[in-house]
Amino acid sequence: MKKHFEKQWWKEAVGYQIYPKSFKDSNNDGIGDIKGIEEKIPYLNELGINLIWIGPFYKSPMDDNGYDVSDFKDVDPTFGTIDDMKSLIKTCKTYNIKIIIDLVLNHTSDEHPWFVESKKSTDNPYRDYYIWKDGRVNGLGEEIEPTNWASFFGGSCWKKDEQTNQYYMKIFSDKMPDLNWSNKKVRKSMYDIATYWLDLGIDGFRVDAVSHLGREGFIDSKNSNDRYVYAPENFSNLPILHTYIKEFRQEVLDHYDIVTVGELGGGPSIEDGINYAGYESNEFNMAFNFDHNWVFNENGIDVVRLKTVFKKWQVDFFKKGWNPLYWLNHDHPRVISHYGDPSNHKLSGSMLATVMYFMWGTPFIYNGEEIGMTNYPFSSLDDFSDIAIKTTYKARLKTQPNLSTDTFINDVKESSRDNARTPIQWSDDVYGGFSNVEPWFHINPNYKEINVKRQKNDPDSLWSYYKNIIDLRRNSKYKDVIVYGETMFVDQKNEHIFSFIRSYEETTILIVANMHNVNAKLDYDFKVKDVLIHNIDSNITENLKPYEAYVVKIK
Ligand code: NOJ
Repeated sequence: MKKHFEKQWWKEAVGYQIYPKSFKDSNNDGIGDIKGIEEKIPYLNELGINLIWIGPFYKSPMDDNGYDVSDFKDVDPTFGTIDDMKSLIKTCKTYNIKIIIDLVLNHTSDEHPWFVESKKSTDNPYRDYYIWKDGRVNGLGEEIEPTNWASFFGGSCWKKDEQTNQYYMKIFSDKMPDLNWSNKKVRKSMYDIATYWLDLGIDGFRVDAVSHLGREGFIDSKNSNDRYVYAPENFSNLPILHTYIKEFRQEVLDHYDIVTVGELGGGPSIEDGINYAGYESNEFNMAFNFDHNWVFNENGIDVVRLKTVFKKWQVDFFKKGWNPLYWLNHDHPRVISHYGDPSNHKLSGSMLATVMYFMWGTPFIYNGEEIGMTNYPFSSLDDFSDIAIKTTYKARLKTQPNLSTDTFINDVKESSRDNARTPIQWSDDVYGGFSNVEPWFHINPNYKEINVKRQKNDPDSLWSYYKNIIDLRRNSKYKDVIVYGETMFVDQKNEHIFSFIRSYEETTILIVANMHNVNAKLDYDFKVKDVLIHNIDSNITENLKPYEAYVVKIK
């Protein structure tokens, strides 16, 4: 059996990402929790989901909403207890829903006991758990950081510790020191944590920031003359980390029937993709990349370039490894505001769903996407919660002291990760049915119109459209072609229409979506044998109305 046609549960699954803090509050403290997730498992089952990815719920000071972990084996009290997790795992099993969790391998919180020790002295047994370097002196006799590398959250990726007079590396916030993966003890400690959770019955991991585990050559980046420089060549996708992942796979992952999804930053190539998630590479089952997240031109979404980007992973990667599919996660704006059109809510939302979830790969729908939640109307700095916004603002003020808050807000409000982090709009009740008390973060003011309760009872809603797609993927006679079919893009030069065919054995389906608010014509001949889905009520033709999308069997 060819690897790409080999049937696996995780290839046929439909995934759903849960951001714990904002999903459902069960104990009325205004913060989402594990019991809230458990309460909504029947809802996810009704939608048709059979795999959930839960973001970090570990003990954490919450500098980065839980990606800064201070105890990997315990649940943060705001989210519940280990017993709540055990109960959730049990409930998921009764619904046949698999459950994967975030595994944060790159860093810990600075409040993690390992770092507390590491900081104490240069000869502490945990010193080498993290990356410590001496500062340098520049031409003016001033002390500067060990390298000029920038942090993803703005400023330097080094932070000085006054007590031991050295700098620790931290590619995210100051409170998230990077682990030293070249230290075998670090690797063993992380494998032990993964084993702990697998033995509790989880079905795999989304492996956070995994592309940054290798660092080589602590030298200045020449990518620009800025004070701090984005330097993926020094700490992203470096060969050494593949020995670590292979070791992790051999020592831990291979002993369980699980699925693993890596997160690949730093602009991975196809070769990188093959290394991380190739069938032969013995690392992960699939890996998220960000290639399709910011593809705009002066007319809005750049459809031609978007097709090129997807072609890379849909066509060039086919037969080499497996692919995850997603429009957004908790690090992106809401897709309907980003690539769709909130004033054509259902139409543009269903068009986007058609484009993404008939492609080749395992879908990961982000919580709230199924009802088309939109960006939040941020208007002041205090409206934001994300640490990345705060640190970026500080860093920008250093280079642009006259930066006004309005300019800054305008620059970041459409792209901010906070857009995806507002509480889920379950109903038109107070606080959107998320909680009975004021939530930790703003509810989008459109919750009275856009909410689960309203859409679930409407066969014509975006929610019902998502449910139909999921049903087609999981239960219909088209399942094999949707899951395993080979992808070929058609009418590639079309500036408005995203179109491709999928073929498996004797069946071919054609997917056509007009991504713009104009009439557009498809340049491709076909005969309709069956209609799988269509987001407007009219005949299928090559002339598409704004945001029209359909999927038809053509062979
Ligand atoms: C990627 C996560 O998705 C993001 O939310 C987080 O800030 C960084 N990794 C650091 O863990």
